[in-house]
Amino acid sequence: MDRRSLMWLVFMVLVVTTAVYLVVMEDELVSLPPRILGSAGALVEGSSGATGEAMKPTKLCILNTDLVLIYIPASGAAVVQSILLRFGYLNDLFVTLPIRPGNPSIPQDLRSGDIRRQDVLQPPAVFSRELTRNILAHQVRYNRDALHKIVKKNAQYVTILRNPLDRFETDFVSSHLEMQFDVEQRPNPPALQRYLSAPEFWEKRRMRVNYRCTTNCMAEALGIPVRGRGMGVFPGLGPGGKAVIDYIDTLESEFALVLIYERLNQSLVLLKRHMCWTIRDILYDVGLKEPPANQRDVSDESKKLQFRRVNGADHLLYYHFYDIFRAKVAAEGEDFKREVRHYERVLDKVSRYCSSTVNDWKAANQTVVWESEWDEEFVVTRRMCWEIRRKRDDWDKLFRERYSSQSQGNN
Ligand SMILES: *[C@@H]1O[C@H](CO)[C@@H](O)[C@H](O)[C@H]1NC(C)=O
Ligand SMILES: *[C@@H]1O[C@H](CO)[C@@H](O)[C@H](O)[C@H]1NC(C)=O
Repeated sequence: MDRRSLMWLVFMVLVVTTAVYLVVMEDELVSLPPRILGSAGALVEGSSGATGEAMKPTKLCILNTDLVLIYIPASGAAVVQSILLRFGYLNDLFVTLPIRPGNPSIPQDLRSGDIRRQDVLQPPAVFSRELTRNILAHQVRYNRDALHKIVKKNAQYVTILRNPLDRFETDFVSSHLEMQFDVEQRPNPPALQRYLSAPEFWEKRRMRVNYRCTTNCMAEALGIPVRGRGMGVFPGLGPGGKAVIDYIDTLESEFALVLIYERLNQSLVLLKRHMCWTIRDILYDVGLKEPPANQRDVSDESKKLQFRRVNGADHLLYYHFYDIFRAKVAAEGEDFKREVRHYERVLDKVSRYCSSTVNDWKAANQTVVWESEWDEEFVVTRRMCWEIRRKRDDWDKLFRERYSSQSQGNN
């Protein structure tokens, strides 16, 4: 055999082995075992039928871990807050806490909105760099300058809004807002209904002690100057209304996302995509959702109109950002809708698994959420169920324990 035919032979052998290898590999891929689930629940299928062919979209996605949530009571913020605290804890980020343990808010100058460094916990030495605060999810009124002094410059600002009347009802009932007013307290009709039949009358009888917001509270939390002009009533088109609209435009440019409670699942998937997080990061417990608003009985339009008159800024705010939200969702395309449906199936599965584990130690130790077009496979354990349920006050304790052990370890 001469040199040339030897080369030829080697070449042919290589070609044949490669071909055989490819055929075998393809077989491997096609014959992956079907996805069978453990006892814990229904199948959460990937969106594409053919296993192995589902390609991960290769969109450029840069993980972001710096985030400020502007917390508005009774608007679904508790769900987002618990997601952010969990994310911070599991990823060893520094989450900003007020100095006083258990305080739900970051202390802040009422007038200027300033936050003093000594009122917030300082990062332990392991977070060596200046300004390592990654997440701020405790209650604080939005004030860009004040917040810029304590969080990273590239932090993403998000908040969540809810239909003003629904939000008000939940807040009124759960925080006993009737105590804010100097009106005769009697059981019937319920205070909420009495307030809603004459909000302007009640607002004139506001007491000064233990101030809790009762009108335009979403606008107030976002730093819109709604107080000190009569009752914070904005006619929508008058000079006050113009100021609010200008302020809303500023918010629009400064906030990465304004989420909508009525579209909670879409909101969270939008957040996930924006921050480049995973579905596992945005799981939540339905128990953290707001109670439904069904106690007010505002059947006649005039009551709604009266409520609107004292909450002009909140209405402008909510409907403005509702439209923006819809546009953002539309821009995400069909794929987004499918991802939200997938996310909802995962939520259902996790919630079934987690409720089965609460009292039953014989229940499976874990359940698997299979890989999908949008996410890798992950395992849900009992421990994760606890983490998903955990609220702010429990996270607060865990962070303090961790910080103090970290600072001891470094001394
Ligand atoms: C979000 O998904 C959960 C789980 O499927 C569902 O129960 C809930 O109604 C959804 N919420 C919204 C606002 O669509
Ligand atoms: C769960 O894990 C524990 C500890 O590893 C083990 O003893 C137990 O048998 C497991 N239970 C089930 C149902 O797999």
